[in-house]
Amino acid sequence: MRRNIVAGNWKMNLKFSQADELISEIAQELSEYDLTDVDIILCPPFPYLELASDASESSDFFVGSQNVSSFEKGAYTGEISAKMLASLQVDYCIVGHSERRKYFLETNKDVAEKVNRLLEENITPIVCVGESLEEREQGEYFSVIKTQITEGLFHLHSDKIEQIIIAYEPVWAIGTGKTATAEQAQEIHSFIRGLIAEHYNKKIADNISILYGGSCNAENATELFAMPDVDGGLIGGASLKAQDFVTIANSF
Ligand code: PGA
Repeated sequence: MRRNIVAGNWKMNLKFSQADELISEIAQELSEYDLTDVDIILCPPFPYLELASDASESSDFFVGSQNVSSFEKGAYTGEISAKMLASLQVDYCIVGHSERRKYFLETNKDVAEKVNRLLEENITPIVCVGESLEEREQGEYFSVIKTQITEGLFHLHSDKIEQIIIAYEPVWAIGTGKTATAEQAQEIHSFIRGLIAEHYNKKIADNISILYGGSCNAENATELFAMPDVDGGLIGGASLKAQDFVTIANSF
């Protein structure tokens, strides 16, 4: 079922005590609103997942991780498996973020494998797609996104694709303060939904939440979320400030 979703991607920020503080502040802010129509997800770094998942038991948010291994288990030093995440009550996981594609050379094939590992453990993948500035300027963005979606997701059976959340994050908008306009976001979100309708069917496409990410903040969230195919946001910088993050969650 299509839901409104706001997920905070903390990236590689905060010490343990600061993470603890931010979780408490967000829980406190959330308790002041009725946010039953939106799913709120916090995605802290791995070492703070247990902290967040303990706090989530008495608060209105879910917990997600920022990455997962494409391997199931075994001799893969430094990796974190989907099974480990599930054992910490992690319900969501970001996959294929552009920073992982750029700095860790993750491919669409890796994304597909990670999605498989997560679904085996009933963890909802938040799969990121998006074009670079160069690809946008050269008018290649539709084909780039189509390839990312096709190679990362279209191996899934129809009963599995419905468990996926997609995040459209234009690389040129991430951490730059340069947000896509609401119209630019809507154009791509509707294109993505169309691809899903074409490969599966319209009912499935209508049920999938597609989030926007890239300099989404407390000022521009309302305009972005008002678009018919924008079902929420994946928030980086602004998710590190409790008040801003909760304001964004209140922007539907
Ligand atoms: P930003 O990051 O909001 O800081 O642009 C978004 C993201 O990378 O998920």
